[in-house]
Amino acid sequence: MKKKMSLLALTGILAFGLTAGVSASDASETAAGKDTDMRKIIIDTDTGADDAAAIILAACSPEVEIMGVTVLAGNVDLEQGTKNALATLELIGCDVPVYKGSEIRYDGSAITPHSVFGADGMGDMDLIHPEGSAEEEDAVSYILDTVRSNPGELEIVMLGPATNIARAIDTDPKTMKQVKRIWSMGTPGIKGPGNASPVAEFNVYLDAPAYRRVLDFGVPVTVIGLDVCDGESKWSDRDFEKLFAFGRVGQYVTNSFDKIREYYKNNGSADSVMNCDGTAMMCVVCPEFITESRLCHGSCITDPGETYGQVIFYQKGFTYDMTQEGEFDYNVTLVCDVARMTCFMEYLTRMGSLIASVY
Ligand code: RIB
Ligand code: CA
Repeated sequence: MKKKMSLLALTGILAFGLTAGVSASDASETAAGKDTDMRKIIIDTDTGADDAAAIILAACSPEVEIMGVTVLAGNVDLEQGTKNALATLELIGCDVPVYKGSEIRYDGSAITPHSVFGADGMGDMDLIHPEGSAEEEDAVSYILDTVRSNPGELEIVMLGPATNIARAIDTDPKTMKQVKRIWSMGTPGIKGPGNASPVAEFNVYLDAPAYRRVLDFGVPVTVIGLDVCDGESKWSDRDFEKLFAFGRVGQYVTNSFDKIREYYKNNGSADSVMNCDGTAMMCVVCPEFITESRLCHGSCITDPGETYGQVIFYQKGFTYDMTQEGEFDYNVTLVCDVARMTCFMEYLTRMGSLIASVY
């Protein structure tokens, strides 16, 4: 059950939140909204800086109740990812349980973590000193228990490789058919290049067989690809300056992006960076942020070679001369565009509105 943020975190946000234009009416609305028809989510994460930003956004959003956070290796190894998740939740005073999941791939092979967010996944800024620890129960058991207790209501937000979810499907497919929706930050999208390879995105590339298992399972999946995280969805140096003024929480998020901002600058990119998981979470908590989506069948390539990890989207209603439409289950909603210009300001406003809902 999501708890309200601690006073310290809120004080930090308050300094900025009131200038973010949150009115009293927002507060009462938000406060009222907090306890009614909140959607229940589990966040499954490989806790890098953008995952942490996504967790904070979910915690600030009255539409969703974070039931728990499950962790796996990806950006960093399982231990570090768990610490990063615990530290992030403690910083914002969210009393949400954390569960350890997979540190190997779906096929049993070892995962080599790879981080563009620094060795600790959080900017190497000495931010990570959690007091708490993960629960005894493992991630897959927790996911299945939570689905059983909330049949047809639970949404799973996958911000890393799909290994934990694929494992839960294999362990108890009947239960997992009761998941309401899976949200995935993954794939290059409808038109992007990949970031792990020209055709594959990192989360999918790290465990393509797991991603294939999730897409083929048939539960509704909404995919947010790299393409909608790019362009005006990116966070600029000016955005990070504003965020830094946001007290301890804003400084934590800004500092955690330190290494990836350096990476982009050293690789000739402009003065902005993608916040992939933060953009994906914006689609989860604020569906009106999604301005275009298409119903598809997603086919993830797992054969070794240049196309490993590519996801081919067969769009419903398209007539492919060489492929019969009847073959497919169109269970994938592919996000094709979002209200990019509002991404960062909506993020800050939601953090601000949380203050108003408490003061
Ligand atoms: O490709 C971007 C994704 O890979 C993000 O989820 C980032 O955190 C990494 O996991
Ligand atoms: Ca991630």
